[in-house]
Amino acid sequence: PERGRFGPLVGSIDEGTSSTRFLVFAAKTAEVLTYHQVSIPHITPKEGWVEQDPEVILHSVIETINVTCDNLIKLDISPEDIVATGITNQRETTVVWDSVTGKPLHNALGFMAGYRTASTVDQILQNGKRNKNFLKNVCGLPVSTYFSALKIRWLIDNVEGVRRAISEDRCLFGTIDTWLIWNLTGGVNGGLHLTDVTNASRTMLMNIDTLKWDPQLCKIFDIPMSILPEIKSSSEIYGYISESVLKGIPISGVSDQQAALVGQMCFHQGQAKSTYGTGCFLLYNTGTAIVQSSHGLLTTVAYQLGKDAPPIYALEGSIAIAGVAMQWLRDNLGVIKNVTESMDIAQSTGEVGEVYFVPAFSGLYAPYWRKDARSVICGLTEETKPGHIVRGALESVAFQVRDILEAMALDCGYPLQKLLVDGGMTANNFLMQIQADYCGIPVVRPLMSETTSLGAAMAAGNAKGVEVWDLDNVQPVPSDCFIPSITEDQRDIRYSRWKMAIARSLDWVE
Ligand code: G3P
Repeated sequence: PERGRFGPLVGSIDEGTSSTRFLVFAAKTAEVLTYHQVSIPHITPKEGWVEQDPEVILHSVIETINVTCDNLIKLDISPEDIVATGITNQRETTVVWDSVTGKPLHNALGFMAGYRTASTVDQILQNGKRNKNFLKNVCGLPVSTYFSALKIRWLIDNVEGVRRAISEDRCLFGTIDTWLIWNLTGGVNGGLHLTDVTNASRTMLMNIDTLKWDPQLCKIFDIPMSILPEIKSSSEIYGYISESVLKGIPISGVSDQQAALVGQMCFHQGQAKSTYGTGCFLLYNTGTAIVQSSHGLLTTVAYQLGKDAPPIYALEGSIAIAGVAMQWLRDNLGVIKNVTESMDIAQSTGEVGEVYFVPAFSGLYAPYWRKDARSVICGLTEETKPGHIVRGALESVAFQVRDILEAMALDCGYPLQKLLVDGGMTANNFLMQIQADYCGIPVVRPLMSETTSLGAAMAAGNAKGVEVWDLDNVQPVPSDCFIPSITEDQRDIRYSRWKMAIARSLDWVE
């Protein structure tokens, strides 16, 4: 059909740990025409337990769609030009709900819900008798509090309503993509119970080779396969939105941190990107090869663009705490008024007073995988000011990325030549500069930093039956670049002190 002045538009539902957004892209130019964002509160019933209300998440998605479509009308663009939508979602975060009532059986357990599932990890590892990597060959992941299987197991063990719903065959499990697709395609009136292969690869229940739920994995975690969604590729029509202003529009692209590989056009083996959001996630495209890391990285599905397309794999370094450390400085310490202020405050400290801050709020993820690691701040003196702590928090992100790059170089045999970055925190020029300084390679930042949402929209627009976004002919997004500005000696000294701080974080608990 005839479309307005921007041609076909593609939406992107971006449901992250801290906020929900709905963005609208013009498929021809990859330009964001408008978006709306709302914050999502965290619920912490106990120290280290992170939950969110699945219904609040769902309503936030509907609200952002409605407001964004109102924005389009104000811009004299018809929402009817939206031909499809993608979903990019917080991965691993676990929802279980009742298929008959449509109601959640518990709050969603957040991907960072570290302490809550620590004893579940011990249970699966038989209190140290099994190595944490004992399932890695099958699913690509170490046993960690991070992944959905541990959270499902915890819910079955601790929530009577979940056990009852399973016994009555009314329990459905999903990561946030699945919860949203089920509700948006009809909920109790025929909602579709689906996930994409990239989200499935983070549950610990999918076989990384066959891309199917693995009976052995399900047996080890004692999770009934009947509650699991059907696994689809990352780019195909999953179903159609049943209500709202987008009624009848297909949902046709799903993925999260992996979607940024698509958005950054890292379609070739050896290309890598780092997305800085609540956490920070560095993915390295290994092509069709399943590369098992010997240095603490995950093996994951990068994307599968169509149900007959080959799956492309990646090595991933997952850092749990990045942007959330800024929120902690704002909300818990009150040393910054807003996140954007962190850049000026950190810069104002100059070179005096080195403070090393390891924010292990959920233990440490890659490459350490230590649920018992604790946060430490080292190097405090009488002269230490709040700015030093802020700077230490920003530096912790840059140093953790260096930890991951070291592991990637060891796994891949050669170091990365440049780092492509994206995500909200990349607006912080100070962080980008120290990232280049501490890694010793150029850091390339696209001027449009919402690359994850872009990747989900590209996957949706590319899907068979939608076909408004030709991935073979996409133009690179304009970018700027940060060049290392310190000497190798300076870099090595700072990094060796970071490793001393890490050693203290790991040694904190016997
Ligand atoms: O693996 C967790 C990740 O998907 C969280 O994503 O969007 O909240 O940074 P986000």
